Amino acid sequence: MSIHIASTTAPVNIATLKYWGKRDADLNLPTNSSISVTLSQDDLRTLTSVATSESFNKDTLWINGKEESLDSKRTQDCLKDLRSLREEMEVNDKSLPRFSQWKLHIVSENNFPTAAGLASSAAGFAALVVAIAKLYQLPQSMSELSKIARKGSGSACRSLFGGYVAWEMGQLANGEDSMAVPVASMDEWPEMKAAILVVSDVKKDTPSTQGMQLTVHTSDLFKERINNVVPRRFEEMKTAIRNKNFKEFAELTMKDSNSFHATCLDSYPPIFYMNDTSKKIIRLIHSINEFFGEVIVAYTFDAGPNAVLYYLEKDEAKIFAFIYTLLKKVEGWANKYTEPELQSFEKLFVEY
Ligand code: DP6
Repeated sequence: MSIHIASTTAPVNIATLKYWGKRDADLNLPTNSSISVTLSQDDLRTLTSVATSESFNKDTLWINGKEESLDSKRTQDCLKDLRSLREEMEVNDKSLPRFSQWKLHIVSENNFPTAAGLASSAAGFAALVVAIAKLYQLPQSMSELSKIARKGSGSACRSLFGGYVAWEMGQLANGEDSMAVPVASMDEWPEMKAAILVVSDVKKDTPSTQGMQLTVHTSDLFKERINNVVPRRFEEMKTAIRNKNFKEFAELTMKDSNSFHATCLDSYPPIFYMNDTSKKIIRLIHSINEFFGEVIVAYTFDAGPNAVLYYLEKDEAKIFAFIYTLLKKVEGWANKYTEPELQSFEKLFVEY
């Protein structure tokens, strides 16, 4: 009996131009194009290993050491698409083992707490699709495979690429042109850094899938967002990234986060993802930018209260001086600085 195995990792991505709304919930087709930055493999990622063998008698999935159901339509859609691509190969080359007919054992592990309120489904589906594609030796490009990951979770399609990534919404009803494409690699703008401020690790009240459809059906502001605001920003943000224009990138990121949360508030009944601490962080970031007289840091919030900050490496110490002083004790950060550095940060804040 032979067992065939493949493994891969996929990092979390954080949208800077948000996906919010589906035009087709079945195929997971969005109402707007979006852009994200994929975090580094060393930070938040899912590691997935898949095995197949003629002797396996059922598909199984283990996530972080716990057996989970594979019954969800989303997971089934991904498995079905991957198996049918493999089957096409087997039809054309009869010498290939019939993996498409064999069961799969899937083991997945996140290197971050799932409860931290961070999008684990994006990295999870991306890793699942890429690991199986690797096992099946599928010749499809990452963009082609991203269409499969998209059916698992919309934002997952962007985690198939590193760096700066666009998810083009596409126009076709069958979703064949709704896929992720790279905008720039991390090497092209390596100075960019991201920090996550975990405000709350409580599971979100309104899951994104449900929240976005409430917005689609009830918010008037949403229509303005998808018709007039996001299409323009999509082009502007890609240009800002390619030109390494941090000010433009940061302003668009903050405005888009605010616009997305405004449509949540405009939904009926309203959806609140940010809490008072999130709002304090927004004010703090604007204060930091005002203090330095230039935009050196941006915030963005997904469907929860946690903030993701984007900034350039050269500004890290300045920014964290403020944040550290204000929030005093955020686990892990203080350890990054020496005591004299921390004291100088305090001084900077007092002067401010
Ligand atoms: C606010 O990708 O989790 O993070 O497609 O229903 O699985 P489904 O939704 P999901 O939504 C992500 C929403 C967001 C914005 C973004 O990542 O673009």
